[in-house]
Formats: sequence, structure tokens, C-alpha cells
Amino acid sequence: MKKSIIQINNLEAGVRDISILKGINLTIPRNEVTAILGPSGCGKSTLMRCINRMHELTSGGYVNGEIILKKSNIYKHDPFIIRRKIGMVFQRPNPFPTMSIYENVISGYTLNGIKLKKEEKDEIVMDSLNQVGLWDEVKENVNRKGTFLSGGQQQRLCIARALAMQPKVLLLDEPTSALDPISTTKIEKLIVKLKDSVSIVLVTHNIAQAARISDNAVFLYLGELIEHGPTKTMFDSPKETKTRDYLSGAFG
Ligand SMILES: Nc1ncnc2c1ncn2[C@@H]1O[C@H](COP(=O)(O)OP(=O)(O)OP(=O)(O)O)[C@@H](O)[C@H]1O
Ligand SMILES: [Mg+2]
Repeated sequence: MKKSIIQINNLEAGVRDISILKGINLTIPRNEVTAILGPSGCGKSTLMRCINRMHELTSGGYVNGEIILKKSNIYKHDPFIIRRKIGMVFQRPNPFPTMSIYENVISGYTLNGIKLKKEEKDEIVMDSLNQVGLWDEVKENVNRKGTFLSGGQQQRLCIARALAMQPKVLLLDEPTSALDPISTTKIEKLIVKLKDSVSIVLVTHNIAQAARISDNAVFLYLGELIEHGPTKTMFDSPKETKTRDYLSGAFG
């Protein structure tokens, strides 16, 4: 049996009278990459936003069911603490535009009012930028604005900003869909390397990317979980017709 990091039980989510996720049951293995696949509008981003307690911030948004992290339902805890343990990176690189590279990396602490000594901050910034392969590229420029970096570097900066909080889980919602092929390859290699220290959930529309870098795959369709399992098994021999059609490019 694989070790799990998150267990999702009968998760329902929606906005007012619109039901988006319908009874999702899913185990997310520890120190692996789990890809979430499915056509546009099927609920992938909503699922990610439930896992780090962002969906409830949507006006009229509701979440029912359980998301268990370390034996405890995350909905029973302070959402700010949960968001530190479960980091998220979005499709468009979004470094804080007024902040330097250094301030961006450390922003999870400063914005949460967590005081650190200068040496502690320096170490976190260097470690986090090193983890994403950005330290050597920016070490002379850490006081410049994050927005002066290329798109791919900005996205790695956003990953470093999430890693600075030492999360247990990293949620990546289409992290490469706005990037060029070289930056995409760098981030794919980074994701594979990072899974040694953090469990990763990756939303992607790119089936080849899921095949290259994910260990497990989950197929969602109209808010329902249709099929999940090891990526290779699911891609070689999908059990459900809908999964087979999606993977063969029939829709999506
Ligand atoms: N705030 C909201 N109010 C009403 N409906 C919403 C809201 N947010 C999302 N939805 C609906 O929920 C469904 C799922 O949206 P979600 O963003 O989770 O899909 P997705 O799978 O991430 O799509 P994409 O691949 O295009 O990013 C969509 O039909 C969307 O229109
Ligand atoms: Mg989405």
C-alpha cells in the first residue's frame, strides 16, 4: 500500500445552487505527483481550491465532506494555517508586483505577521530559490522586482514562494500552460525533483505532460470522479469509455 498524504471523503462543492463537485472520494499518495485531468469546466480548479481552503472565499461558495491531512479534517482547522501547509501555484505567474524577489519569497511569513531574524530570512530565501534552480540566476538581483524576470523564472519564483512555507502538499494549477517549451521542461524537471520533499497535485490539460511526470492520474468529468489510479495503468488501459475518449483526444 502506498502511503497517503490526503484522503478526500465525499467532497461536495458548489456556488449557491450550482453543484460543481459531486461526491469526490480520492486518496492522494505521499511524495508522488498526482495529475488531475478533465475537460474545461469539469471542476479541477475547484477541487484544488477546496484542498487549500480557497473555495470557501468565493461568494456563495460551499464545501461539504472531508479532506483529511495527517488524520485530521482540514475544515476543522484555521484556514490560514492550512494554506501554509498546502501551498498553491496558479496558471499565470503572479509574483507580488510591488515586492522584490527577496520579499516575494519571504512574503508568506511577512503577510502572516511571522517575525524572523535577518539571517533566518536570508537562509529561507536562498534555500527556496535554490530548490527551484533560480538562486544562481538571480542571486545578484534579489532586491529587484520579481516582475523583471522572464515568465518561466516568475513561475519558479512563485513555486519558491510556496516552498518557503515548507508545505506538506503543493498544488499546481496548470503551472506551465502560459510558458514556452523550454521553461515548461524546466518546471517539469523541477516537479519531479520536488516530490522527494513535498507531495504534488498537478492540474494539466497536457496529457503528454501528465504521462511524462505524474505517478497517478485522476479523471474528472462534469464534477464527478470517473477514474483514478497509477498513470501508466490508466493511460495504457483506461477502464471507462469517457476516460478513453478523453485520453484519445475525442473531447476536452
Ligand atoms: N464563482 C463561481 N460561480 C458560479 N460557477 C462557478 C464559479 N466558479 C466556478 N464555477 C463553475 O464551476 C465549474 C468548474 O469550474 P472550474 O474552474 O473548477 O473548472 P476547471 O476544470 O478548472 O476548468 P478549466 O480547465 O477551464 O480551468 C464550471 O462550470 C464553472 O463555470
Ligand atoms: Mg481551472
